[in-house]
Amino acid sequence: MIKKIAVHQLKVGMYVHDLSCDWMNHPFMRNRLLVTSEDEIRKIIDAGIHEVYIDTGKGLDVADAPTAEQVQRSLEKELVDIAARQPAPVARVTLTQEIARAKQIKNQAHQLVRTVMADARLGKAIELDRVEPVVQNITESILRNPGALTGLLRIKNKDDYTFLHSVSVCTLLVAFCRSAGLDAATTREAGLGGLLHDTGKALVPDAVLNKPGRLTDAEFDIIRKHPKDGYDILLRTPGVGEIPLDITLHHHERMDGSGYPDRLPGERIGTLAQMAAIVDVYDAITADRCYHKGMPAAVALRKIYEWSKFHFNAQHVQAFMRCVGIYPVGTLVLLESGRLGVVTEPHETNLLAPKVNVFFSTRSNTYIKPVEVDLSRPLGLGGGDKILSHELPEKWRVDPMKFFALE
Ligand SMILES: [Fe+2]
Repeated sequence: MIKKIAVHQLKVGMYVHDLSCDWMNHPFMRNRLLVTSEDEIRKIIDAGIHEVYIDTGKGLDVADAPTAEQVQRSLEKELVDIAARQPAPVARVTLTQEIARAKQIKNQAHQLVRTVMADARLGKAIELDRVEPVVQNITESILRNPGALTGLLRIKNKDDYTFLHSVSVCTLLVAFCRSAGLDAATTREAGLGGLLHDTGKALVPDAVLNKPGRLTDAEFDIIRKHPKDGYDILLRTPGVGEIPLDITLHHHERMDGSGYPDRLPGERIGTLAQMAAIVDVYDAITADRCYHKGMPAAVALRKIYEWSKFHFNAQHVQAFMRCVGIYPVGTLVLLESGRLGVVTEPHETNLLAPKVNVFFSTRSNTYIKPVEVDLSRPLGLGGGDKILSHELPEKWRVDPMKFFALE
């Protein structure tokens, strides 16, 4: 049985099933381990981990700890409460209208980040006047329809990860700023920060950055230098404002002071850096990497919500949920009718009732003619269905993104 416990309950002989923490900030490249020494427990605590899941079938038990199912059930209930009071921003054009433009913007931004990183590696300055128009294009696409670009950026090739991750963080941060009601100038600066936040990774050797196996402590130390290195590169770039500098230096800080490089406590982390941290982790854990498979966005969101108790600003996490929906675009959902569909657009006021492209019947176990269902509408007006759960694509052996933008 999988149970959730506090780290102070952890003992030698327990089997950690999940460290309940994003792996970018901890030195254990594997999430699962049998605890064999007090030293390991200390290392887990030092990494800023407060709670872990244990597998009682593979190690010692804690009798009164809640099971993973109990934790998930109460978490879903909390999410429904959040969804009930959070409106989402409205799209100005349909997803189908925006998707072609969004593809071009994604490619343009991808190429730009590639150039910026290559220049940084050669010690050349960043040309801000080439970056700004790209951030502008991303922002305009988000304003037209936030689902198009954020949905497209769900798909990342392992080799392109570092570059597309930067594009993704920029895009999500712009969407987040917009839904949080921040002004255009702040949003632009945040977008710039998002696009450039990992520039310091240009100085990390490829062998470390893309290492498929577990990082050594020394390699982990090299990775941890990238916020400061990126900050130094941006400092040498004329015209870069405070917000991109702050995001670059502090996107790995955590509210409980367990982050890096400065182990800042929450009250000393700037708002935009706090928001960037959420977006950064959300994108990182949803992406396939050389050493692990990404989790579906809906699962990632629930993890971040769970971790927000210690690592993120809980209010910001809730605001982020308003921005991406609790069933983010690209999520595979099972409907009451037995149909599977992919979420394409959150509803303006009801996060439980997004638009969904349905394409598969679990009753007949066959593909059906793809059609858009608006879950906020009654039957007869293109709706009349309800989300039962979010599902893992591999469970049904389907690729929801194939049905994301219908012709
Ligand atoms: Fe980073």
